[in-house]
Amino acid sequence: MIRFDNVGLRYGSGPEILRDVTFHVLPGSFHFLTGPSGAGKTTLLRLLFMSLRPSRGLIFVFGENVAKLSTGGRSALRRRIGIVFQDFRLLEHLTTWENVALPLRVMGKRESDYRDDVTDLLRWVGLGDRIDAYPEVLSGGEKQRAAIARAVIARPELLLADEPTGNVDPAIGNRLLRLFVELNRLAEAEGDLTEIAGNHQGLLQLKSELALAKIERARGDHDAAVRAFFKVAYGHGGTAAPDAFHPLQAEAIYAAAQLLEDAGRKDAAGKLYQELVDHYPASARSQIARKSLERILRR
Ligand SMILES: Nc1ncnc2c1ncn2[C@@H]1O[C@H](COP(=O)(O)OP(=O)(O)OP(=O)(O)O)[C@@H](O)[C@H]1O
Ligand SMILES: [Mg+2]
Repeated sequence: MIRFDNVGLRYGSGPEILRDVTFHVLPGSFHFLTGPSGAGKTTLLRLLFMSLRPSRGLIFVFGENVAKLSTGGRSALRRRIGIVFQDFRLLEHLTTWENVALPLRVMGKRESDYRDDVTDLLRWVGLGDRIDAYPEVLSGGEKQRAAIARAVIARPELLLADEPTGNVDPAIGNRLLRLFVELNRLAEAEGDLTEIAGNHQGLLQLKSELALAKIERARGDHDAAVRAFFKVAYGHGGTAAPDAFHPLQAEAIYAAAQLLEDAGRKDAAGKLYQELVDHYPASARSQIARKSLERILRR
């Protein structure tokens, strides 16, 4: 779907911001791009959106070598991509509804064909009562949700979001993250949506990993879910991780233990419950784990 081969980028004659960047992205996947401020996250997303050319290396988007495309060819690919800019870029003279409808209008679709779709999507992102509001009266989180709605209204195959949770308070951040996870899941039923989101908060990454683990569990893929919960629990340094991570890690350990217990793997589950009791005493899960441990040992 996307491939970077030894991509390097410098602005003008400045230093190389990105160097030897090589990766590929499969359809239907969900990725977080993390790094401190100035690391080059926005730059990388601009390369993906083809609004910036690499100084060296090759970029393939939807299988096409971007360097070989005409301006028209690039525009055609861009229409298959939804993007949420770090600064939202809503048009001030258009209402929320009109902003979100804009990509469809640009594509030449008839308003009567999409009027209800735009309204439904706005309700879905929690902006049902802001439909006729202009951007200047929207809060940061509301603007961001409008920008996300605009990015997905034309059903893009690739969704790029820059700092989708960076400018909003944690509660809204979590809601947006759930929104992305949900969009990815909805799209899976209808085709594929690949998401690449930039943010530099490790905690948000952990939360998204936990959300994805829960999705694996909901799908009934126990092994994948246990692996995903383990990643949350141990992939960030275990108890050496920042304190703020601990409740999420404890939740993941508890979830993995329950899955293992359900699968009849009582020893493995018992070890995890014990770990919660020993190493996460401050966690609410620790108390429940103690009871679970007693239950297992009684049998
Ligand atoms: N148009 C530009 N011209 C010159 N240098 C630029 C330009 N845009 C970005 N840079 C530089 O490139 C580096 C990477 O910037 P970028 O915006 O990609 O970082 P970022 O990871 O998105 O940061 P943040 O988390 O603060 O959004 C920075 O050092 C920045 O100063
Ligand atoms: Mg940025």
